[in-house]
Formats: sequence, C-alpha cells, structure tokens
Amino acid sequence: MSDLAAPPAPDPAAEHSERVEHRWAAVMVAIVVLLTAIATFSALYHTAVPQARVETIDPRTLHLGGEFIESNLGSALEPDGSVTVRAVGQQYSFTPSCLLVPADTPITFRMTSADVVHGFLVNGTNINLMLVPGYISSLGARFDAPGERLMPCHEFCGVGHEGMWARVKIIDKAAFAALAAQHRRLSCVE
Ligand code: CUA
Repeated sequence: MSDLAAPPAPDPAAEHSERVEHRWAAVMVAIVVLLTAIATFSALYHTAVPQARVETIDPRTLHLGGEFIESNLGSALEPDGSVTVRAVGQQYSFTPSCLLVPADTPITFRMTSADVVHGFLVNGTNINLMLVPGYISSLGARFDAPGERLMPCHEFCGVGHEGMWARVKIIDKAAFAALAAQHRRLSCVE
C-alpha cells in the first residue's frame, strides 16, 4: 500500500469562517467602489451643471453704478411688504456696517464682495453665505423678534479679517414701516 499520509480532513469550521471573511471583503470593496462612484458623479455633475440661478456682477465697478452703488445699499421696503437688504463686503468692513431689518417679515439679503472672498453670517441664526467677488449671494430669511445680532466675517480675507464685522438690528415691524416711509434706504449706521 502507499505510505502517503491521507490528506487532512477538511475542517468545516475553518472553511466556514473563510467563506464569511470573503463575503465581508466583497462587501467592503463594494462600499469603497460605491463611495468613489458617488464622489466622482457629484464632482462631475457640479462641474458640468451650473447652479439654477447664478447672478454675476463686475466687482470693479460696484461703486460706479447698478444695484450695489452706495446710495442703493441698506434695507428697502418692497411693494409686497417684504424687505430687500443690499450690502457689500470689502477688506475689512461691511457697507452698511449696521443692517436694519423688521421682525416677522420676509427678508431677502443680496450681497456681494468688492475684492476677495468674505463670509456673511448672522450669529444665532442659520444665515450663512459666502460673498464671492463677481457673484451676487442671495438668501431669504425671517427674524421672529426684535433684537441685535453680530455679523462677523467668517472667511479668512487677510490681515484685517479678525476686525471685520457688522451688526444686524431687528426692530418692530411698525417702527420699520414708519422709517421706510421717510427714507428710501435704511440702515442703523450712526
Ligand atoms: Cu472679510 Cu474675513
């Protein structure tokens, strides 16, 4: 007879755990492939498809005319009762440096930058935009109650970044309407 040893009997437990390991490895690879596909798709999609509504503006001529000329900045009461607030960020301040808005009123912020990227954020709210030169940033908001909030620039914009901030003053709706009857554009700059 042959003196070859008989092959060791297969160990069912080891075979089972090997199968489980292979299955998990396949799941891991599938997850990595899926995540890579999602990242690739969204990168290509956002590169190829512009935002639904992009408004551009020449940052070099903001002060010469158009929507963001200084005399048009501040808060404007619209015929439908809403308020549009226009402001410009530049190194290292916001114009106006104090935004006046009524409580309990639909408000549209329209902002842009005259030089580099700045941030527009109202403390204690979810109002948060980037102000990018060449583009108009627009956001709808509503303040429930009167009060005063800080509005710091939150994008690093140079050596004066830390000192770049403004205020938002929210006043009673009727008081705002009374002021708006006297002035075309409102702010709380003293
Ligand atoms: Cu402007 Cu930081």
